[in-house]
Amino acid sequence: MGGVNPYIQKAQTTKATKPFKVTFVDEGTGARTEVAVDPTSFPLGHIGLEGSVLDIADGAGVEINHSCGGVCACSTCHIHMQAGGDSCSKATENEEDELDKAPGVEPDSRLACQCVPDGTQDLLVLIPKWNRNQVTEGH
Ligand code: FES
Repeated sequence: MGGVNPYIQKAQTTKATKPFKVTFVDEGTGARTEVAVDPTSFPLGHIGLEGSVLDIADGAGVEINHSCGGVCACSTCHIHMQAGGDSCSKATENEEDELDKAPGVEPDSRLACQCVPDGTQDLLVLIPKWNRNQVTEGH
């Protein structure tokens, strides 16, 4: 379920053209999931900005909460970009406004639905414990 919030400024993104790796770490369980992303064949374009960290997680079956459906309107997809953040699209003012509402915000915080890597670096993504708890409590 991809979507666009018509009221926010558009993020400037550069689509990846070559394979790269994303490692997701679940802060709650310590589980690590390595995902090989080949932009020519990996399933993208389902949720959040196309090729975003949320889109990649969705394609790989890694759960990141996304209450607003990936349109930069909730902050529940808050993640920490522990490595590779320089290769991602810059946060818009709207993303920063939403991030301000998330708990535990750090300098490496991003919204997974708005953070689009250009594929020039591998990423290390920490999914905060509270995000996973919220998913568990919702089911
Ligand atoms: S899913 Fe709501 S801001 Fe990312």
